[in-house]
Amino acid sequence: MQTLTGKTALITGAGKGLGKAVALALAAEGLHLGLIGRTQKDLEEVARQAKKANAGIEVHIKVADTGIYAQVKEAVSELVGLLGSVDVLINNAGILKVGSIVELPVEEWQQVIQVNLLGAYYVIHEVFPHMLAQKKGDVINVASTAGLKGAANMSAYGASKAALINLSESLMYEGRKSNIRVTTLNPSTVATDMTVNAKFTDGNVEKVLQPEDLAQLVVYQLKLPQRAFVKEVGLWSTNP
Ligand SMILES: NC(=O)c1ccc[n+]([C@@H]2O[C@H](COP(=O)([O-])OP(=O)(O)OC[C@H]3O[C@@H](n4cnc5c(N)ncnc54)[C@H](OP(=O)(O)O)[C@@H]3O)[C@@H](O)[C@H]2O)c1
Repeated sequence: MQTLTGKTALITGAGKGLGKAVALALAAEGLHLGLIGRTQKDLEEVARQAKKANAGIEVHIKVADTGIYAQVKEAVSELVGLLGSVDVLINNAGILKVGSIVELPVEEWQQVIQVNLLGAYYVIHEVFPHMLAQKKGDVINVASTAGLKGAANMSAYGASKAALINLSESLMYEGRKSNIRVTTLNPSTVATDMTVNAKFTDGNVEKVLQPEDLAQLVVYQLKLPQRAFVKEVGLWSTNP
């Protein structure tokens, strides 16, 4: 297994939920962090907790909307400059809008695609050249089981994640020959603000997956010998 101490990681959507849990897990493993999100105070709090978990790491934060290319370009450039490299990308920022194809406003449908698909693409576009240059790296794209099949009232989110799954596989084929590992992570319901607000947890917040479960999976993947990687993984809870 690899040791992760001293590596550098960029995490998008790091202010809460899955991104926050992954940030704290990677901090505990000794990675230096660059955190991107939309809310400054959330990022500051994650940075504080990460430094508390491991005083020996650097943590830099940058407020940016991953759905806006210019902001992604500036954020990645600034954070990679501060960290000196980027070994790991956790492409996690995402939003959920629930509603039927007819009823969900066009602007909201577009916004989901803008953040979940184009935002993920923008981040990859800016980060991947660094990995290609160093002939090494790890990308974990957080898609969803919702991208694997259609469902009523989930068309925007499902379509965005289906496209991200395809983008992620294409990236895997492009990176593999340069020693870059690309993993598509498809969680089912995890207890975060996203799903609690959408009432997906059915009042059973403690019975579904927890953000820390995903974070543990990410750490396992990163620790695999460099020759090996999990190409695509679904994480499910034992409770229906
Ligand atoms: N929770 C689940 O059951 C589940 C299942 C499968 C996949 N996922 C995926 O996992 C990822 C994380 O979800 P989560 O459940 O942790 O959601 P969450 O609790 O809503 O947290 C999302 C985080 O991403 C940030 N974010 C959202 N849009 C952003 C943008 N355009 N630019 C920068 N940061 C942005 C949010 O910041 P602000 O609060 O400041 O906007 C927040 O910190 C998403 O891609 C989601 O689709 C979640």
